[in-house]
Amino acid sequence: MNALAPPSFTPRAEAAPAEVLAHRELNGEYRHLVLRAGPVAAGAKPGQFFQLLCPCPPGEAPYLRRPMSLYGADPAQGTVEFLYKIAGAGTRGLATLAVGEHLDILGPLGKGFTLDPAWRSIVVVGRGAGLATLAPLARMARLAGIAVTAVLSARRPELVVSEALFRAEGASVVSVTDSDGSSAPAHVEEILRGLVASGRCDAFFTCGSARLLRLQQMLAREFSLPGQVALEQQMACGLGICFCCVRDFAVEGEIVHKRVCWDGPVFDMHEAVA
Ligand SMILES: Cc1cc2nc3c(=O)[nH]c(=O)nc-3n(C[C@H](O)[C@H](O)[C@H](O)COP(=O)(O)OP(=O)(O)OC[C@H]3O[C@@H](n4cnc5c(N)ncnc54)[C@H](O)[C@@H]3O)c2cc1C
Ligand code: FES
Repeated sequence: MNALAPPSFTPRAEAAPAEVLAHRELNGEYRHLVLRAGPVAAGAKPGQFFQLLCPCPPGEAPYLRRPMSLYGADPAQGTVEFLYKIAGAGTRGLATLAVGEHLDILGPLGKGFTLDPAWRSIVVVGRGAGLATLAPLARMARLAGIAVTAVLSARRPELVVSEALFRAEGASVVSVTDSDGSSAPAHVEEILRGLVASGRCDAFFTCGSARLLRLQQMLAREFSLPGQVALEQQMACGLGICFCCVRDFAVEGEIVHKRVCWDGPVFDMHEAVA
């Protein structure tokens, strides 16, 4: 080897323009975006996220990038997907993107979900935009031979996003909504207790609701089950530098501070302070 040659370096994340291949409105609130990206981005794992440089919507100028979880990635096709809810200026800007235009994406960032090969069945419980973060877990679990039961919560039936993806990956799906009262904590608890009792829950996974997180923490403690939570926190850099995303975590009886973008966004469910 030439002693003067630079060491080979494969970046784990990069900022690069990605071409819009498809951009579809799912309902009044959510959009599905498919991008052609480089191999680094397309190698993203479920639970990781990207910092998106959102275009300016008319009359507005979103400051800083916006964090968005990976919804799908196909390394063979070089694509990454996002499923997002229009919340403010940044996501309003995203919604203006047309097929053929480019979006600057920085990632993949953070630590994603992990699966224990000893698990046979997991339970995934999410709400709202959190369902987008959890959806790619369905494929990851299927490839690992782990069965998934997904409890999907939303305000109304048309806002239950990711249901088709969970079903396509072979998950059993239960949708609960505010409109018919089925999302009430007591009812979700009944569903989760039934899954634990029938041996269909080796671990919990959750995102999108502090109330659902607390419920699963309580059940996980009661039945000595592991769990993981993907946390959503306001972010600036997304790179572990600015410390604006620090939250409290309970680790071995002590409160410790961790950066959601760097130490997570996926954390041990038992450590999260909900
Ligand atoms: C790691 C991570 C992954 C995420 N993944 C997704 C996803 O897959 N799909 C999706 O729809 N959204 C996701 N979000 C939330 C998304 O980042 C925010 O909705 C977005 O930044 C809002 O930007 P905005 O300019 O449109 O709205 P803003 O005007 O900035 O805010 C509008 C509203 O959204 C809230 N908000 C702003 N930033 C966040 C944030 N980081 N987390 C939660 N709420 C926020 C604000 O408090 C305000 O109420 C994720 C957030 C994080 C931290
Ligand atoms: S957003 Fe800057 S450290 Fe996490």
